[in-house]
Amino acid sequence: MAYERQELSAAAAEEQREICARINAVLGPGERYALVDTYGCQQNESDSEILRGYLAAMGYSFTEEEERADVVVVNTCAVREHAQMRVFGNVGALSAQKREHPEKIVVLCGCMAQSPEIREKVKRSYRVVDLCFGTNELWRFPALFEKTLEVHGLPGNRGRVFEATDEALVAEGLPRQRDGKVKAWLSIMNGCNNFCSYCIVPYVRGRERSRRSEEIAAEAESLVLAGYKDITLLGQNVNSYGRGLEGELNFAGLLRKINAIDGDFRIRFMTSHPKDATEELFTAMAECEKVAPHLHLPLQSGSDRILKAMNRGYTAESYLKKTELARKLIPGLVLTTDIIVGFPGETEEDFLDTLRLTETVGYDSMFTFIYSPRPGTPAASWENGASREEIQNRFDRLLKSANAQAAAIHKAQEGKTLRVLIDATNKGEYTLSSRSAGGRLVHLRGDASLLGRWAQVKITGSNTFALFGEII
Ligand code: SAH
Ligand code: SF4
Ligand code: F3S
Repeated sequence: MAYERQELSAAAAEEQREICARINAVLGPGERYALVDTYGCQQNESDSEILRGYLAAMGYSFTEEEERADVVVVNTCAVREHAQMRVFGNVGALSAQKREHPEKIVVLCGCMAQSPEIREKVKRSYRVVDLCFGTNELWRFPALFEKTLEVHGLPGNRGRVFEATDEALVAEGLPRQRDGKVKAWLSIMNGCNNFCSYCIVPYVRGRERSRRSEEIAAEAESLVLAGYKDITLLGQNVNSYGRGLEGELNFAGLLRKINAIDGDFRIRFMTSHPKDATEELFTAMAECEKVAPHLHLPLQSGSDRILKAMNRGYTAESYLKKTELARKLIPGLVLTTDIIVGFPGETEEDFLDTLRLTETVGYDSMFTFIYSPRPGTPAASWENGASREEIQNRFDRLLKSANAQAAAIHKAQEGKTLRVLIDATNKGEYTLSSRSAGGRLVHLRGDASLLGRWAQVKITGSNTFALFGEII
């Protein structure tokens, strides 16, 4: 089926804002609270900011306490079974509260809700959920919420609202309540066309579609004006930004455009697919002083046989060559990755190829996952020769190696001076956290008033997960 990029009309976006105002008026004055619980990746974090933006326009304040919340929104992730089990566990646990407070509204949305099978299961077995909608429905959350309120208003009628469509729109002009004041997400595209054989994302997020670069640059500019200092461009595969949008910049061009915005801020991005990471991108990263020298380049496996079965579109050797080129072109590059262990058909030899390649590349941090079959993906029906114990054993060995790599790379930073952005406060001895240009976590001592400031720090210590430093 051919995909045609479609934009949400300004009138439709305006209508949703009007619905928010109407709901606010109907609910009237008085305090009401919402809680938005987010699972999964940064893309979901970013979507939750839109959910909060809408809820704020309806007059809701936010709470972290489930008991206190009049509305609980669970924004879900379907990428591994474990994430889904957690969602079901937590949603199930809301039933007791709902028995005491039948007026509490429970919403389940996001990637899980895009799957017809999961919606069916929620309808049948999770009666606590009042409203369930898929990822493509996010822009019309107010309309669906209004419908839910109406259903609630009918005495004796405990009807529920379930909606999802495959029609994905590029939506501009939606309200957004951002999480912090220092770091901001900036979604540049949505969906994925890669269909890695293990991955559910293309099914729940739809085909890849990019926002226009003028819209993205305008949003980046307003973030800088509002004082944000760390902007992360988000997409499932940012390297293919602009594909299918006539006359649009590619990702390297987009980086240059955002880099040209006045101000002292950093640009990060997630995630790069190795098959589309080019010399042009590395050159742009090297030449743009605001672009962080960090590449999150998911390897998944170091075995060519497994990479082919995963439909990743690169070999171990071409991946290694790219990281070498990137290291050569981008001074101080920080490399991080994702690895899947126990993919169907992975042998001990395949695993050793992965282990060796990760050690050759040398990663600052590795996100390691045990393969989780996702219903509807090709790999879900493939035989897995390895036993659970073998897979766990491989996972443990990989994690041990990942931790040793990270600790050694961090140790080598000791004595250096880095420029960091202070972006969080902590309890305990190290009261502040910050990030280096490459994205390394640096714990510091200092006053909370330094939050949002840049600082020069001397690195005095390190462990597997972080660096420790002193402000100079
Ligand atoms: N678009 C990004 C990442 C998407 S999901 C990319 O292509 O890199 C984040 C990570 O979850 C993936 O990189 C992969 O390592 C892991 N993952 C995805 N599907 C998985 C599955 N079925 N089982 C285990 N890990 C999975
Ligand atoms: Fe999933 Fe592959 Fe797309 Fe990443 S590139 S979201 S792993 S299908
Ligand atoms: Fe999960 Fe959806 Fe992100 S499946 S990883 S929340 S795109």
